[in-house]
Amino acid sequence: MVMGVDKGASLLWLSFLFMSGSRALDNGLALTPTMGWLHWERFTCNTDCSKDPFNCISEQLFMQMADVMVAEGWKEAGYEFVCIDDCWLDSTRGKDGRLRPHPLRFPRGIRKLADYVHSKGLKLGIYQDVGNLTCAGFPGSLGHYEEDAQTFADWGIDLLKFDGCNFGTVELLAEGYKNMSRALNNTGKHIVYSCEWPLYEKDFQKPNYTEIRKYCNHWRNYGDVYDSWSSIKSIIDWTADHQDLIVPAAGPGGWNDPDMLVIGDFGLSRDQQITQMALWAIMAAPLLMSNDLRMIDAQSKALLQNREVIAINQDPLGFQGQRLYKMDEFELWERPLSNASFAAAVVNRREIGSPRAFRLQLFFIGGGSPCKKGCIVTQILPFRNHLGWQKPDSVIPLSVNPTGTVLLKLLPSSKLSHNVLEYSSIL
Ligand SMILES: *[C@@H]1O[C@H](CO)[C@@H](O)[C@H](O)[C@H]1NC(C)=O
Ligand SMILES: *[C@@H]1O[C@H](CO)[C@@H](O)[C@H](O)[C@H]1NC(C)=O
Ligand SMILES: *[C@@H]1O[C@H](CO)[C@@H](O)[C@H](O)[C@H]1NC(C)=O
Ligand SMILES: *[C@@H]1O[C@H](CO)[C@@H](O)[C@H](O)[C@H]1NC(C)=O
Repeated sequence: MVMGVDKGASLLWLSFLFMSGSRALDNGLALTPTMGWLHWERFTCNTDCSKDPFNCISEQLFMQMADVMVAEGWKEAGYEFVCIDDCWLDSTRGKDGRLRPHPLRFPRGIRKLADYVHSKGLKLGIYQDVGNLTCAGFPGSLGHYEEDAQTFADWGIDLLKFDGCNFGTVELLAEGYKNMSRALNNTGKHIVYSCEWPLYEKDFQKPNYTEIRKYCNHWRNYGDVYDSWSSIKSIIDWTADHQDLIVPAAGPGGWNDPDMLVIGDFGLSRDQQITQMALWAIMAAPLLMSNDLRMIDAQSKALLQNREVIAINQDPLGFQGQRLYKMDEFELWERPLSNASFAAAVVNRREIGSPRAFRLQLFFIGGGSPCKKGCIVTQILPFRNHLGWQKPDSVIPLSVNPTGTVLLKLLPSSKLSHNVLEYSSIL
């Protein structure tokens, strides 16, 4: 058992280091996973501004979210993009063939909204679809890729989420995603390109991630996130089940996108929120929150703004982590970080009972090499706890709540250098 895991893990990281050299979309963007806010999961296609002016998809929603992102520390924590999803469009294109926003909900137009968002030091994302119609039935981009890319560039858009509804064939789907990538490049404006190409392709054929990475800055692989633990579980399980295929594809410039963070909404318990945050950090996922930042509880806010978790997510090395093993309803995940450090997450998948004890054997992490002279271990979630220097054969007892996660950071250090460090911090 021990040998099996150990060897398997080393082999996995080897294949991974080999692949991650493959070329990313060359637009200089998303060198770490994108961070921001996206309206879909929380506000869906709410277009009824007469009955629900506070929550409908309108320029006011995005302006208010931008205001709060600056005022409440979100921008400072790294959340930079304010992103519009489906249902911003008018029901038809203009006479000139150009896209136009719904006139009552975006009366000043997208250019003005972008100016406003930029004046706050933030960036604006928008949504379109590779097919004839968007998922909600608004005019799609098929046959208009160049023109729409130019419209977005003219408006000052910084990110495009390009959905995959209503496409004709898999060949057209791939062509469409590539053509839009080229069209964005041709505008000369640097625009983050968020794709759903593998999600729509995978039912027909195995996606070629080397190819996808050449054209997209991130890509959705799996269905939409919902505000529920069953949704989060299904995303985690799908990711682990396909990690050999998708983990090697991630790296600076191109990321697997497991969809939005739903922390601060209605469906997740405190422990389940911690699990989403910890695993999205391990998975090097874009951190796109879909919640109401105008009225979010303090605990969710503190979790989403936790600098140490964000630092793991944003690690400049850009390796996506993965599940090392699953046993007795525990899962051990790990992610290699810069400075030879590692992050480790222990998830308790049992949905009954009390916190359970997990004995983390340090030599399991990173195939045994990172802590071969010992490690300084810090628990980051569910609360910060300095566990000090641990010798290579340490067994660290952890207590993990049902559906919760303990997230750790391990920094290689010999006992001697650790003592010097402690000593100098006293001086
Ligand atoms: C367009 O692609 C070229 C070549 O890959 C790259 O050098 C350039 O930076 C890209 N420009 C934009 C705006 O993405
Ligand atoms: C898109 O609409 C055009 C014009 O109605 C039609 O010819 C074409 O087949 C449609 N394409 C798809 C992928 O539905
Ligand atoms: C993609 O671009 C090529 C070259 O311009 C064109 O022939 C093809 O029809 C385009 N495909 C789609 C789906 O737009
Ligand atoms: C995947 O795409 C890459 C890059 O475009 C290509 O070199 C490779 O042959 C493709 N692999 C398969 C299995 O089609």
